[in-house]
Amino acid sequence: MQEDDPFTGRPTRVRGSRLLSAADQAALQHDHERRLEALARLSAAAQGVGFGTDPDDDLVLSAEDGLSLLAGADALWAELDAALTEFRALLPLVPLSAFGFPEASEDPFGEGSPRLRRIGSGVEASAFQSEDGSIYKFFLPREGGRIGGSFSFVPGGDDVAWMAEASLGSYRDLLQKLRLILALDGMPTEVVGVTPEGVVVAKQTWGERLPENTDTSTLLPTGLIPIPARFLRARRDHPRLFFWADRAWLIADLHAKNLVRDVQQSLRVIDLLAAPFPTEHFAQEPLLRQWLDRVRENPHAGILPAVADDEL
Ligand SMILES: Nc1ncnc2c1ncn2[C@@H]1O[C@H](COP(=O)(O)OP(=O)(O)OP(=O)(O)O)[C@@H](O)[C@H]1O
Ligand SMILES: [Mg+2]
Repeated sequence: MQEDDPFTGRPTRVRGSRLLSAADQAALQHDHERRLEALARLSAAAQGVGFGTDPDDDLVLSAEDGLSLLAGADALWAELDAALTEFRALLPLVPLSAFGFPEASEDPFGEGSPRLRRIGSGVEASAFQSEDGSIYKFFLPREGGRIGGSFSFVPGGDDVAWMAEASLGSYRDLLQKLRLILALDGMPTEVVGVTPEGVVVAKQTWGERLPENTDTSTLLPTGLIPIPARFLRARRDHPRLFFWADRAWLIADLHAKNLVRDVQQSLRVIDLLAAPFPTEHFAQEPLLRQWLDRVRENPHAGILPAVADDEL
C-alpha cells in the first residue's frame, strides 16, 4: 500500500508501527536494489569521463542541471547525463526545510523541527519520530566526504588472521547497509532522499525498544554465521558472516539498541555495521577460504573440514 509522505509528498509504504505485506516488503527491497544499481551505473559513467568516485559524496550530490548541456558532447557524457537522471529519481535532493528544520543553521538537528520529536541520536544518525509515529533518520556527513560507518580490514597478529576495524563509510556503504537491514528481515526501511548538505534521510517503521542491557547474542536474525576468532576478529558486538547477493558480508553491532520489537512482538534489526567480507585478501589463507566455501553451503560447518570415517 502506497501513500504520500507528509514531508516530501513522495510515495511511501512506511507509516508508524504498521508492518508491510510481503508484496510491499519485496517492493521496498526492489527500490533499494534499483538505487544501488543506479549508483553503480553513475559511478561507472563518472569514471568514463575522468571523475574521481572515492569519496563518492560529490557524485551522490550532483544536480541534474548543468550536465544536460554537456550531454550532447559525446556518448560518454550522454551516458553520465542519463545515469545521473536515473539516480536522482531514486535518491532525490530534498531540502532540510521540508522536514521543518532550520536551513541556515549551524546545528539544524539540535534546534529541531516543530514537526518531529527527537528519539535518539547515535554516532551515525539522529533519529526523530513524526506525528504519525514513523521514524526519520538523518545520517550526517562526516569528514573527508564520508558518511556512516563501515569496516576496514588489516592483517592480524600470530593467533588471528584478520582484524576488522570500524571506519567511516561511503554513501554507497550507507545505501548498502540500509539494504542489508531488509535482507535480514529487519524493520521496513526506505531511503527518502539526500539534502544538498549531504545528509541522507531514511524512514523506518517504529518498534519498541529492548531493555537496555538485553543480551542479544541468542536473539540475532537467522542466517548470521559466527566467525572463528582465528580467522577474523572485530572489536564490535557480535561480528557475523552473512551471505547475500552473491557475496559474503561482515555484519556487526546487533546489540540491544539496534534491535526493536515490532507490533507482533517479533525482533527486528533497525541498525547495524557492515562491510563486504574482503575475500580478495584471503589468497594466502587456504583454511579461511575453505571455511567460507563450506559455511556458504552449510552454516553449521566447523573450522576444519569433516573427515570421512574411513580416512581416520
Ligand atoms: N525504528 C525505530 N523504532 C524505535 N526506535 C528507534 C528506531 N530507529 C531508531 N530508534 C532509536 O534511535 C536510536 C538511534 O538510531 P540508530 O541506531 O538507527 O542510529 P545510530 O546513529 O546508528 O546509532 P548508534 O551509533 O548508537 O548505533 C536507537 O538506538 C533507538 O533508540
Ligand atoms: Mg544504532
